[in-house]
Amino acid sequence: MMLFDTHAHLNDQEAFPDVEPALARAGEAGVRRIVVPGYDRASCLRALALAEQHPAIYAAVGFHPNDAASVTEQDLADLEQWVTHDKVVAVGEIGLDYHYDTPRDVQERILRTQVALARRVRKPVVIHDREAHEDIVRMLDEEGVVHVGGIMHCFSGSVEMMHQCLALGMHISLGGPVTFKNAKKPVQVAEAVAEDRLLIETDSPWLAPHPHRGKPNESAYVKLVAQRIAEVRGVSPDELAQITWRNACQVFSLPEVLGDGETL
Ligand code: NI
Repeated sequence: MMLFDTHAHLNDQEAFPDVEPALARAGEAGVRRIVVPGYDRASCLRALALAEQHPAIYAAVGFHPNDAASVTEQDLADLEQWVTHDKVVAVGEIGLDYHYDTPRDVQERILRTQVALARRVRKPVVIHDREAHEDIVRMLDEEGVVHVGGIMHCFSGSVEMMHQCLALGMHISLGGPVTFKNAKKPVQVAEAVAEDRLLIETDSPWLAPHPHRGKPNESAYVKLVAQRIAEVRGVSPDELAQITWRNACQVFSLPEVLGDGETL
């Protein structure tokens, strides 16, 4: 089984002071590639360092909406450099978060700036959307995201919103919440999403799947996400792993076959 964890914060140094034990367990669980997205300056630099050290780790770089208020002109200038790194596969995670109180106009400016950058360098975006469903769809549409595509990470919207995102060329990534006992919308989305747009992730150290809910999450648990979605879609876990592997390689422009020495 070849699993692709499309979103793991191994760059969170409080959760992962040493990444090696988590990488070893991920490898044992069948995880073969991991994308580590940045969210602020330090985490972007850490994601780049991890991608340079580990052949099977790739980075995304960007400024998260919760950090938008502290982003400087220098940060944005540096981001333009970081995105050109050959192990940077996406711009992210970026987006809108209306749960916390970062001013919405500031979030919007930082989001639009980064989608425009993604278009210039022709790399996909990794989108964080919390309680901002209508605005994120509208702004991604206005910024022409369809030209680069990307990922709705840990998608929490409805089936209707999912269709709007697919029309914008986006992939839908599901994580731990699809396994929760009381999950409704993520399960409906898991059932309905087009086979060629489905991805899996952990968002570790957050959002651990059942039966680890509420505890620290790690890439090995992406297998539990794959198993649950396989059950919902009526396919085997192996088949689900294959489908999501192929989709992840496609969205990040990576070869489906592992390179020499590309192991966790
Ligand atoms: Ni994240």
